[in-house]
Amino acid sequence: MDQNELKQMAAQKACDLVKDGMILGVGTGSTVAFLIDELGQRRKNGLKLAKVVTTSSRSKKQLEENGFTVSPLSAVDHVDLTIDGSDRVDPSLDGIKGGGGALTLEKNVAINSTKNVWIVDETKLVDRLGDFPLPVEVLPISCEQNFAKFAKAGLKPQWRMNGDERYVTHYGNYIIDLAIDPLPIPQGLASYLDQTVGVVEHGLFLNICDEVIVARSNGNIEEIRR
Ligand code: 5RP
Repeated sequence: MDQNELKQMAAQKACDLVKDGMILGVGTGSTVAFLIDELGQRRKNGLKLAKVVTTSSRSKKQLEENGFTVSPLSAVDHVDLTIDGSDRVDPSLDGIKGGGGALTLEKNVAINSTKNVWIVDETKLVDRLGDFPLPVEVLPISCEQNFAKFAKAGLKPQWRMNGDERYVTHYGNYIIDLAIDPLPIPQGLASYLDQTVGVVEHGLFLNICDEVIVARSNGNIEEIRR
């Protein structure tokens, strides 16, 4: 099976967790794109959600095309379930996210969700985080200092680019990808980044995911719970 078929399988399986009356969080990425189309089908077949929030303008547009009204995160007091993709997942269900640049809103939606489920194909599973550059969203006002600090600390910073220009996030910030592999102890790195002035958010999602739905290349679906 090709990777897109696997992404679609994981997305369809996750849809079974979505129930009438829920406040649903919908993430970002190519796997989530399959989820949104499936949710649209289920809406046509009668699914009634209380509210939907999402983590990017891309997903918002696709949700609206599928008939959903999207609320901002600030308009809900909690989210019952958020389904998102992930770039890497380790055996403790910690992960690296933000390959699509939506990490700041993704983390904010996730930490306000009662349950977080990630949908992945098996290429995303790793024994140890690394193997994928860690996105760090930084304020433009101090981004050069942040870049220099990361380089000095041996974190192998690279500017996220969009053609010849620096990639700009939804919030007008830049992304510095840390290409260090493997990552040092993720909790230590996360706390270093959390304490670095100018860092808006980073893509280490630790102790956030409750369940991963993995589509295996042999066509099996595995549900791994924390
Ligand atoms: C976007 C993300 C995505 O969830 C992650 O990049 C996975 O995307 P895909 O399903 O396309 O592999 O974190 O910021």
